[in-house]
Amino acid sequence: MTRRSVSWRLVTCLSSSPKLSLNVLCLVVTVFVLLQIWSFHITLQPILLPPSLLTYLNNHQQQQQPEVSHNDCLMEKLRESVTFLPLKDLRYSNKPLEGHTWFMSSLYDNQTKGEVQYQEFPSESSKGKLLCLKGFDKHDGSWNYYALAWPQALPVNASLKKGLTFVSYNHYDYGNMWHGLSAMVPFVAWSLRNQCERPQRWVLYHWGELRFNMGNWLKEIITATYSQEPEFVRFGDENTPVCFEKAVVMRHNEGGMSRDRRIEVFDLIRCKARHYCNISSSETSRPRIGMTLLMRTGPRSFKNVSAVTDIFKRECKRVQGCELKVAYSNNLTFCEQVELMRNTDVLVSPHGAQLTNLVLMERNSSVMEFYPKGWLKLAGVGQFVYQWGANWSGMKHEGAWRDPFGETCQFPDTDRRCMSVYKNAKIGYNETYFGDWARSVLERVKKMKDVVERNHGYESLDGCMC
Ligand SMILES: *[C@@H]1O[C@H](CO)[C@@H](O)[C@H](O)[C@H]1NC(C)=O
Ligand SMILES: *[C@@H]1O[C@H](CO)[C@@H](O)[C@H](O)[C@H]1NC(C)=O
Ligand SMILES: *[C@@H]1O[C@H](CO)[C@@H](O)[C@H](O)[C@H]1NC(C)=O
Ligand SMILES: *[C@@H]1O[C@H](CO)[C@@H](O)[C@H](O)[C@H]1NC(C)=O
Ligand SMILES: *[C@@H]1O[C@H](CO)[C@@H](O)[C@H](O)[C@H]1NC(C)=O
Ligand SMILES: *[C@@H]1O[C@H](CO)[C@@H](O)[C@H](O)[C@H]1NC(C)=O
Ligand SMILES: *[C@@H]1O[C@H](CO)[C@@H](O)[C@H](O)[C@H]1NC(C)=O
Ligand SMILES: *[C@@H]1O[C@H](CO)[C@@H](O)[C@H](O)[C@H]1NC(C)=O
Repeated sequence: MTRRSVSWRLVTCLSSSPKLSLNVLCLVVTVFVLLQIWSFHITLQPILLPPSLLTYLNNHQQQQQPEVSHNDCLMEKLRESVTFLPLKDLRYSNKPLEGHTWFMSSLYDNQTKGEVQYQEFPSESSKGKLLCLKGFDKHDGSWNYYALAWPQALPVNASLKKGLTFVSYNHYDYGNMWHGLSAMVPFVAWSLRNQCERPQRWVLYHWGELRFNMGNWLKEIITATYSQEPEFVRFGDENTPVCFEKAVVMRHNEGGMSRDRRIEVFDLIRCKARHYCNISSSETSRPRIGMTLLMRTGPRSFKNVSAVTDIFKRECKRVQGCELKVAYSNNLTFCEQVELMRNTDVLVSPHGAQLTNLVLMERNSSVMEFYPKGWLKLAGVGQFVYQWGANWSGMKHEGAWRDPFGETCQFPDTDRRCMSVYKNAKIGYNETYFGDWARSVLERVKKMKDVVERNHGYESLDGCMC
């Protein structure tokens, strides 16, 4: 008797046996057989059924119905047995980012030292099962669901999306340039190791809640990197799950990636962005030393722009080949930003999202950052993101200037309540300090330029040409 006919008979017995006790027995055995079939492709051990059950089955051989309907019946049961779990698991809300996180918490990442932490479906670890998602909640991720299902037994009402889908979990948001970019880095890293495979579509989650867009800068970065505009999946009602022929899930941003891996990703992004913007690669089209003041308006802008500009202009003038540019990030197009950064060796800018552009400079370029009063004590580790970002993309963070003067807070300096006073304050200047600092940075940059002509060639990896 073949394995298949045994299981079909079991399904039949489940639906036809008159006795309750026998039904229960059948249920147990059916589950057992299903488990055996799961491992069918891996192990070819015989199924160990109790002899009495085999006898029972043999006696009922004559009652067998046509094979097709048995098969359908089994598939129907598999289909019905697909279980959806909430995407956001509230049991882990006290440590949402640790280990398996609170997002798809029953599943584990592929963790190879120094590499991106990711999940892929179908894969060996999913036992060939596909990822299915369901729900369209934009406010509470515990009302959106995930499940794994075999391609032959997708859940009831499910639709199948062909090709590769990227599923992103971001603890922050996709509108902010830095947080959004952090969520994209691991996908680019994955593509670099997988023949540059590009996604047909994206599913964006924040705390398990769906998002249907990302900031414009980020969208352009993705469009440039994958040579196609990203498409974001929208789900229908909660009765219609969507399953993915191939899905890659990221929920740790760049966590786990070595510095070399991160640098690889930024090299590719930079090169793709320049290519996308048709920016000439000729050295003669750029200044020998470019210094750029990237200004903000409103919160964390300089109180006295002309005074700050004058200091840097003066220092730049002292250095042969130095050209100063003053730009406002809010009114530059994406490609204007890409071009500006290509021509920048020293980026001078207050702390803020516009600094994310630093990854688009030539490697080894310098960043000078400025903070209003109170940030060091109160702003938490998040204030160091551009220091990290510079390191991860191969730049040199030259340190920061922190304004000793500023808004007055009625509480002591270290009181959390003061942060709301300091957060969006403006930044003053110290002529002596800014001048000395600019001079020493420019001197170093000039020396480096004299010694090494920058290396523009990027190694192409695994078919990822740029
Ligand atoms: C994990 O990733 C490595 C490469 O990064 C791959 O060789 C390995 O097969 C993966 N393991 C699983 C279980 O997917
Ligand atoms: C499948 O879709 C139909 C029509 O929308 C709905 O009535 C039914 O409840 C759905 N079944 C499941 C299991 O969601
Ligand atoms: C780059 O050049 C191509 C071909 O000349 C053109 O189609 C495309 O619009 C240009 N892109 C930008 C951003 O200027
Ligand atoms: C800005 O600084 C310059 C030079 O120190 C000074 O003359 C000017 O009055 C300042 N402007 C404002 C608005 O404080
Ligand atoms: C860019 O914005 C700044 C400040 O808002 C403004 O002074 C400048 O004229 C703007 N430039 C362009 C080209 O719109
Ligand atoms: C940059 O990162 C590397 C590796 O994590 C670390 O060893 C190095 O000290 C960092 N450099 C700076 C300037 O932070
Ligand atoms: C400005 O910077 C210089 C050099 O670091 C320092 O000696 C001086 O005290 C600073 N001035 C003020 C007003 O903080
Ligand atoms: C970066 O600078 C170091 C020395 O400071 C040099 O060895 C290296 O070649 C430079 N890298 C690039 C890409 O210019």
